[in-house]
Amino acid sequence: MPQKERIVGVDLGTTKIAAIIAEVDNNDLKVVGVGSTPSYGLKRGVIVNLEKAVNSIQKAVDEASRMAGFKVDACYAGISGSHIESINAHAMIATSRSGGVITKRDIERVLEQAQAIALPLDREIVHAIPIEYMIDNERGIRDPVGMSGVKLEADVHIVTAAITSAQNIYTALEKAGLKVKDLVLQPLASSYAVLQSDEIDLGVGLLDIGGGTTDVAIFYDGAIRHSEVIPLGGEYITNDIAIGLRTPYNQAESIKKKYATLIISPEEKKEEVKVPGIGGREDRNVTGEILYSIVSPRVEEILMITNKAIKRSGFSDVLAAGVVITGGTARLKGLDRLAEEILNLPVKIGIPKRLGGLTDIVLDPIYATGVGLILYGFEKKNQMLIPRAKDIGIFDAIKKRFEEWFTRYF
Ligand SMILES: Nc1ncnc2c1ncn2[C@@H]1O[C@H](COP(=O)(O)OP(=O)(O)OP(=O)(O)O)[C@@H](O)[C@H]1O
Ligand SMILES: [Mg+2]
Repeated sequence: MPQKERIVGVDLGTTKIAAIIAEVDNNDLKVVGVGSTPSYGLKRGVIVNLEKAVNSIQKAVDEASRMAGFKVDACYAGISGSHIESINAHAMIATSRSGGVITKRDIERVLEQAQAIALPLDREIVHAIPIEYMIDNERGIRDPVGMSGVKLEADVHIVTAAITSAQNIYTALEKAGLKVKDLVLQPLASSYAVLQSDEIDLGVGLLDIGGGTTDVAIFYDGAIRHSEVIPLGGEYITNDIAIGLRTPYNQAESIKKKYATLIISPEEKKEEVKVPGIGGREDRNVTGEILYSIVSPRVEEILMITNKAIKRSGFSDVLAAGVVITGGTARLKGLDRLAEEILNLPVKIGIPKRLGGLTDIVLDPIYATGVGLILYGFEKKNQMLIPRAKDIGIFDAIKKRFEEWFTRYF
């Protein structure tokens, strides 16, 4: 029997590494393995200790492989961290065929040209995603192949990353025995898991609030328009609980998960929360109100910074589908209500879409990126591959741009 096609997603989170294995079954996806382990060696979304990261990845992948009953050797991996930058570039070419029928090759050329931006030596392009095409000044075209025109233009969302951070991901996964099929911006991956296509058409903000980062992506009229990574997440809240209540970090983490809330009733205010003491000191009790007074300002701060990011995108006034929040911190009770107040937009908590197989395990906001990586890989295999500047060579891309310009004007 021929082996079924498999897609593997490895989410390199600051607090956990999640490996998810899916099988393609008659054009449907079936989750057959899930492995999740605490993540060591990452800070605010980037690898800072290679050996520890490799060990964590190996554990997660082994766990998923054991569950699936086979070994895997290639994956899609997420990339995040405050080194991520995004810009929207514009490119223009003269179509190559006489008669002006636009071909796939023309699309490749215009996208290659959009990537021929002056890229600093220490950065690489992670994504070049077409937003819209224009043919002879006619805007809003999504699929120009087969249409006629002499001038093809494209607006392209380009995401770049620090080469060192990207390289560390390749190295860590290779040392753990996995080739990287593609690096995917984490919020873009999460969007595949939690957003509906009508939300992407109407305009929607996606927030993945994890442990170390808050990843932001803005979608409008069917395409991603803005992306950025804010280096703050749930760990920021836990740290303050540990300091404020003078308790070890791991105890603060359990207290947060168990008792923290952003909508507090008069009864909850008075409720006692047991706080284990540090270094053999006696346990104490604090009220729910004290815990609330520590947690709430930290979450407000994260949301206020996020609000600025949404405003910076220039799309805050047209997000008709509001904001979808996912990632582990989305589990915090009352987060949707507080976010609605601060962002002044309707908010929904994003749970990954239901796939087949072991789907119940991954119906949790912490798996949005992992599930999204699989959906991204699945969709990509059915799509035309867009060459990236790093694959065609940035100098070739720049040369091509000059050639275009030359043929057009001389
Ligand atoms: N019930 C809960 N209440 C509050 N916070 C929670 C809850 N469950 C998980 N979290 C928080 O979610 C965070 C982990 O989320 P997630 O797994 O999405 O992060 P990550 O992917 O490891 O990190 P990142 O994406 O930031 O690199 C932790 O800070 C954890 O404390
Ligand atoms: Mg994450």
